[in-house]
Amino acid sequence: MECVPCLLLLLLSPLYISADLPESEPCELDEDAVHCVCNFSDPDPDWSSALQCMAAVDVEFYGGGRSLERFLLRLNPNADLRQYIDIVKSLRWQRLTVGVARVPSSMLFGVLQMLGYSGLRELTLEDLEVTGTTQPPLLESRGPDLTVLRLRNVSWVTGDAWLAELQQWLKPGLQVLNIAQAQSLNFSCEQVRIFPALTTLDLSDNPRLGESGLVSALCPQKFPALQVLELRNAGMETPSGVCSVLEKAGVQPQQLDLSHNSLQDTANPGTPGCVWPSSLNFLNLSFAGLEQVPKGLPPKLSVLDLSCNRLNRKPRPDELPKVDNLLLKGNPFLDSGTQEYTKNSGMSPTCLSLAMGMSGTLALLQGAWRFA
Ligand SMILES: *[C@@H]1O[C@H](CO)[C@@H](O)[C@H](O)[C@H]1NC(C)=O
Ligand SMILES: *[C@@H]1O[C@H](CO)[C@@H](O)[C@H](O)[C@H]1NC(C)=O
Ligand SMILES: *[C@@H]1O[C@H](CO)[C@@H](O)[C@H](O)[C@H]1NC(C)=O
Ligand SMILES: *[C@@H]1O[C@H](CO)[C@@H](O)[C@H](O)[C@H]1NC(C)=O
Repeated sequence: MECVPCLLLLLLSPLYISADLPESEPCELDEDAVHCVCNFSDPDPDWSSALQCMAAVDVEFYGGGRSLERFLLRLNPNADLRQYIDIVKSLRWQRLTVGVARVPSSMLFGVLQMLGYSGLRELTLEDLEVTGTTQPPLLESRGPDLTVLRLRNVSWVTGDAWLAELQQWLKPGLQVLNIAQAQSLNFSCEQVRIFPALTTLDLSDNPRLGESGLVSALCPQKFPALQVLELRNAGMETPSGVCSVLEKAGVQPQQLDLSHNSLQDTANPGTPGCVWPSSLNFLNLSFAGLEQVPKGLPPKLSVLDLSCNRLNRKPRPDELPKVDNLLLKGNPFLDSGTQEYTKNSGMSPTCLSLAMGMSGTLALLQGAWRFA
C-alpha cells in the first residue's frame, strides 16, 4: 500500500474527534501564539485540541507512549490528500517535535511527505519506536527542507539501514544532524547518500559507540562539508584513536568535542603517528578524567579546553600543542590543598556540580574510579 500521510492529518482533521470530550486540554498554546505543546497522555485524549497548534511556530506533540497504528487502520486509504496540501502550506511551523509514541514508518514518512509543503526547518524525534517497513518514495526528496534534524532514543525495525531510509524523505539541505541514544550507528554506508550541506554532526550521548563504532558511523565521503564533530559522552578512549578514525573516514572537521568521555592519557599503541586533519583548530577535552595532557594531540590549535580534569600539576610547554587559548580551570593543581577533590572522585567541586545532570557523568566517574 502506498504510504498514507496520517499523523499530521489526523491532528488537523476533525474526522477522529471523539464524541465524549475529556476534561483536560492536551494542548497549550502560549500567549504569543508561538509555542504550542500537546501531551496526549490521557487514555482518551481530545485530539482536536491540536487544531490550536496550527497557528504556532514551535510545535511539540507527545503521544503518551501509545501506538499510533490504529489510526492507520481507521484512515481511509482512498482519501484525497490534495485537500490538505493548502492547509499544510498555510502552517507557520518552523520547529516540530514528535515524541513518546510507537509510529508505523508509513505514517512517519507520510507526515514527512506532507511536511514537504510546509516551511518546516527543524525536526526533533524523541522516544519513538518506528515500526514496519515502507517502499521508498516515488519521487526524490519530497519531504521538508530541514536545516536541523535531531533524533534521541529512536528505534527502527530497519536496523542499520534506518538513516539511508530516512534520508530519502528529506531534501538534501540538512546542516545539523544530531543522533543521541541511538540503537544502531553501524550505518549501511553504501546506501547512505552524500549529505552535501551537513556542517555539524553530533553523535553525543551514545556511550557504547567507542572508536570502533565511530568508524562505521562516519561513512567515508558522505560528509564532505563537515566542520563540527561532537562526540560528548560517546565512549571514546583516546584522542589518538579518534584521530585515526578521522583519518580512515577522511573527515576534516575544524572542531572536535571529546568532552565527557573517560579518556586515557596515553597514545593508543596501535595507532602510532596519526596525522590530525590540518583543518582542526578546536579541541574540547574537558570533563575527561585526565591526569596528564594526553600524548598525540594535534601540534597546533586555537582552542584547547582541558577544564575539569584531574591535572595535578601545570602542564609543561613541551606537553602541550601550540595553543592560542588554553582552558585549564577546574583542575586540582590550580587550587591545591582543596581536599574535596579526592573525596569527589578527583573532580573539582565546581566541575562536579556542572557535570551533574549531564548524561556523561556516570561514565566519567566510573572512569575516575577505574584510574583511582
Ligand atoms: C505528559 O504527561 C504525562 C502525564 O501527566 C507526564 O508524565 C509526561 O512527563 C508528560 N510528557 C511531556 C513530554 O511533557
Ligand atoms: C526510549 O524510548 C522508548 C519508547 O520507544 C521508551 O520506552 C524508553 O523509556 C525510552 N528510553 C529512555 C532512556 O528515555
Ligand atoms: C555492522 O554491520 C556490518 C555489515 O554492514 C556487520 O558485518 C557488522 O557485524 C556490524 N557490526 C556491529 C557491531 O553490529
Ligand atoms: C567544552 O565542553 C564542555 C562540556 O561539554 C562545555 O561546558 C564547554 O563550554 C566546552 N568548551 C568550549 C570552549 O566550548
